[in-house]
Amino acid sequence: MSAVEEQPVTDRNRNFPTEGLENAEFDPTNPTENPTMGELISRRFSRRGFLKGSLATTAIAATVSPLALLKADEALAQEGSAFSFEEAIAGVDADHHVAPGYYADILMRWGDPVTNDAPEFDPTAQTAAAQAGQFGYNNDYVGYVPLDGSSEHGLLLVNHEYTNAHLMFPGIVEIADEEVNQKPLTEEQVNIEIMAHGGSVIEIEKVDGKWQRVAGSPYNRRITGETEMDITGPVAGHDRLKTSQDDTGRRVLGTLNNCAGGTTPWGTYLMAEENFHGYFAGDLPEGHKEAANYERLGAPGGWYEWHNFHDRFDVSKEPNEMNRFGWVVEVDPMDASSTPKKRTALGRFKHEGAESIVAPDGRVVFYSGDDERFDYVYKFVTSGTYNADDRAANMDLLDDGTLYVARFDEDGSMEWLPVVFGEGPLTEENGFESQADVLIETRRAADLLGATPMDRPEDIQPNETNGRVYVMLTNNTNREEPNAANPRVDNAFGHIVEIHEADGDFAATSGTWEILLQCGDPSIAEVGATFSSATTENGWFGMPDNAAVDSDGRLWVSTDGNSPAGTGRTDGLWAVDTEGAARGTSKLFYRVPVGAEMCGPLPTPDLTTFFVAVQHPGDGGDDWEGHGRPSYYEDLSTRWPDFRDDMPVRPAVVAITKQGGGKIGSA
Ligand code: FEO
Ligand code: CA
Ligand code: CA
Repeated sequence: MSAVEEQPVTDRNRNFPTEGLENAEFDPTNPTENPTMGELISRRFSRRGFLKGSLATTAIAATVSPLALLKADEALAQEGSAFSFEEAIAGVDADHHVAPGYYADILMRWGDPVTNDAPEFDPTAQTAAAQAGQFGYNNDYVGYVPLDGSSEHGLLLVNHEYTNAHLMFPGIVEIADEEVNQKPLTEEQVNIEIMAHGGSVIEIEKVDGKWQRVAGSPYNRRITGETEMDITGPVAGHDRLKTSQDDTGRRVLGTLNNCAGGTTPWGTYLMAEENFHGYFAGDLPEGHKEAANYERLGAPGGWYEWHNFHDRFDVSKEPNEMNRFGWVVEVDPMDASSTPKKRTALGRFKHEGAESIVAPDGRVVFYSGDDERFDYVYKFVTSGTYNADDRAANMDLLDDGTLYVARFDEDGSMEWLPVVFGEGPLTEENGFESQADVLIETRRAADLLGATPMDRPEDIQPNETNGRVYVMLTNNTNREEPNAANPRVDNAFGHIVEIHEADGDFAATSGTWEILLQCGDPSIAEVGATFSSATTENGWFGMPDNAAVDSDGRLWVSTDGNSPAGTGRTDGLWAVDTEGAARGTSKLFYRVPVGAEMCGPLPTPDLTTFFVAVQHPGDGGDDWEGHGRPSYYEDLSTRWPDFRDDMPVRPAVVAITKQGGGKIGSA
């Protein structure tokens, strides 16, 4: 296929309200004209490209043939690689595939019992009560808290980001005269959806080499779209968070659209609320004071039908309810009766994740992308320091600290700009009366500070071993204008930015940056991909989304948006070299079934297991031969992982281990 023929999946065959939900078909909402990251990249790249090209040409002419140079380059890159495994084969079919020599075992599927009183899954007799104890839908973030330091026994932490009614419920899709329609959901189906959101905490252990849930564990817990939680930090109790259900502004029901997340150094579980605006519908009362706030968030999104049965999702009836979402939620997985806390100090936006690291002085740094076209990269630095000897002393660290937003400069430097009331433009003149106002409208504050609009910031991963930070930028298909300042007209495939914090201090307020990779098919010159020449036809990918840095400092990248018609491959997990001659080399380790995206990934501390989350398998408008078709409960493009006629497709967490044991990705 040529670059010209590439079409984003979102533009094709859209039949159902939540099909391909994360492809960001909604319009970007950033009204500023700050120079985009792509424009800066291109200015830098055009200079560097010229230099590198001139030198290379001279060397080739003087000494050896281009082919010999290429082969030497490949050998060098292979030699320096941090990874050693036989690569999986890229492609598309109904099943998942892992590199030869590894097992990929299903650990938890949608509907499997999580709590100790939950019933077995029966897709034809679903109830909200059953779902409230069963594994939720669309697993995304995966965390692991070792018990007694073990890599074979611990707590699995899993976010359930969103639901796809057309894949979950029988009998709701009607096709007549080639028209595809989804019937309105019943109240019980809406309530099942609410219970299928949130997260799971599950005690797991390895028995005879295979991971399994520990039945009867006191840790086993479901958190749902209705679990009571506290609102803490600078925004707690603010008038803008008060509703008819809660006149304190401190108590909220549920957490929604928990995409990626994080696990803190003290072993708590962070759930990042991403596209929360999609659950709300209706019109704000005329002239309502939250109008500009909601407009900047593209809210309400109206993707779901929950407002038909629950007034709090109707902004005409409960205009403040939406201010209670868009936060990072902290859960103590060691106590199943603990109340989750929405930590408002980390700001309110479409949080992709919240991965953390301890800075040299003991403060803890949390990185979080705001996943929308032209939105920003943030970090939060705690005021207090981490106490490794006293877990309880860390439990409210997230209520006090400084939020920063990133400005990436053309010369390769960067600044972290404090998002603090009273500093710079964040004053009463601009409509902020307190830090609470600044946090509720984090995006508007960041606009005023001159942050750099990015190409959809997804996961951000700090790497303790090299002092750098990896930012996944998934794509930005709104970049349509051919522009001399942008090397990739329509950034369909995304890129990865590497931040070097000043002096390797993650709490620093400045640093430098460069591009680790521009993604896409490197054999198509117009795409502008920058994978190393040692990367095979299986090794390249588009749309980086989640990532992990393992305990050896190696980078693993998972994707969202590859497809039969787009890149000729499903999403998957790739091992990406960041150091030395192999830098920019990528290898395919695992791939998902058709329609799915790859979430997680999460290695155990000893690197003998990788947990990965297969999200929305069977969704989307292509079967695995690339033909456009609706995929729905009765006529699915795959019935992974059970492959039974009486079972729908089920999102699932997979445990990958090496046959015969040993460290993953190493010989
Ligand atoms: Fe839920 Fe930005 O991915
Ligand atoms: Ca994501
Ligand atoms: Ca995603």
